[in-house]
Amino acid sequence: MDKKAVTMDKLVALCKNRGLIFQGSEIYGGMGNTWDYGPVGVELKNNIKRAWWKKFVQESDNSFGIDAAILMNSRVWDASGHTTSFSDPQMDCKNCKTRSRADNLIEAHSKGKVNPDLMSNEEMQNYIAEHKVACPKCGAFNWTPIRQFNLMFETSRGVTDENQNKIYLRPETAQGEFVNFLNVQRTMRAKVPFGIAQIGKAFRNEITPGNFTFRTIEFEQMEHQLFCKEGQDHEFYDEYKQKAFNFLTSIGISAEHLRFKDHDKLAFYAKAACDIQYLYPMGWQELNGIHNRTNHDLSRHQEFSGKPMQYLDPYTNEKYIPYVVEYSIGADRLTLAILCEAYEEETLENGETRVVMHFAPSIAPYKVAVLPLQKNLNEKAMQVYKDLCKDFMCSYDEAGSIGKRYRRQDEIGTPYCVTIDFETLENNTVTLRDRDTMEQVRLNISDLKNYIQEKIKF
Ligand code: GAP
Repeated sequence: MDKKAVTMDKLVALCKNRGLIFQGSEIYGGMGNTWDYGPVGVELKNNIKRAWWKKFVQESDNSFGIDAAILMNSRVWDASGHTTSFSDPQMDCKNCKTRSRADNLIEAHSKGKVNPDLMSNEEMQNYIAEHKVACPKCGAFNWTPIRQFNLMFETSRGVTDENQNKIYLRPETAQGEFVNFLNVQRTMRAKVPFGIAQIGKAFRNEITPGNFTFRTIEFEQMEHQLFCKEGQDHEFYDEYKQKAFNFLTSIGISAEHLRFKDHDKLAFYAKAACDIQYLYPMGWQELNGIHNRTNHDLSRHQEFSGKPMQYLDPYTNEKYIPYVVEYSIGADRLTLAILCEAYEEETLENGETRVVMHFAPSIAPYKVAVLPLQKNLNEKAMQVYKDLCKDFMCSYDEAGSIGKRYRRQDEIGTPYCVTIDFETLENNTVTLRDRDTMEQVRLNISDLKNYIQEKIKF
């Protein structure tokens, strides 16, 4: 597929015009870095989440799903280190008051040649001064010193104003998995190694430009923590790297557009960490992370909660705090990668261009569209539609020329279009058009369900 055809502007326009993704709070002028999924987009994202759950819960031995609360006891965030160190180095332009991240300024100025992750705040400050790195908004060189800016959104709870406690919107779903480690282990009679997975919202007060849904202040994460014994962690780390990669290719991302990137700087407790990057229109960027976190997280929760987090091995009677291999991916960032990957502008034999979204049929928002060729075929078409709706997300469209209706379905990536014509009334057959090849086959209505079911399997 020609990746040059995809630009963020084209994707944003297609998503807006075809009901995939709208600007958040649009009628009020929008709200930066928030986006609303429309009727087509929500189907796509739900299918992606379902595919992930199938792979990492349903088909994974000893993996269990949970859905933990977004609001957690504040001590959780003290234990995880988020209250003290979940921050970005920020600078304000004294001229136009725009806030920027020092690390992003350096990355952009050096065109990716200098890695700010390896620099202290003082080193970043010196780099910016030496190279006279200017404000991207107004061009002035008039910065405040770097300050660390915590990314957690705060809110409060309590019945009266005097009795309010500060709490946070969770910045990651992972902590819900850690604090429920023993609950899941006990109730599911799980034996280490086992995994806990969850999909849910996370919130970060990001100050950097979002690049559409790539970086937003509210997003969904799909996270899986694999609890294992020290010594098994290397093997699971390698296994999850491969599993994560295979999952991405299984839902339609080309291996050529993916690459592993080891972290240059590890957290003091971590043994290994890498990202899988995707080639987005703005370049290679993190799509997901895999992290060997040792027994740091459970040890910290044991320390801060005062509750033992040890696992008793039923075979050896050994007690230990398990190691964790974490795999974490943003559902929105993955949906964006899928959108980029699927987009194609195809030149047809007659010279016209059609935009087509080549979603894998298993994750396509609508699986099939029913299109009566003429108005007097509507009744029969509606019968077929009502029947297919019971099994698939199905679209019905009777307005406009058949060519235009096909194009519309191509743009939302519907893999099959069923056309009802006069022959349908005579012998109960329909034409089924394939989105990618545009070839048509004639099928009996009674065979439609099985035919489509077979093609859209995960
Ligand atoms: N528990 C580990 C963790 O949260 P992370 O690298 O900060 O690690 C994991 O986030 C994934 O969540 C990222 O790889 C990305 O896919 C997604 N993600 C993180 N911040 C995001 C944001 N502001 N907007 C959209 N997705 C985000």
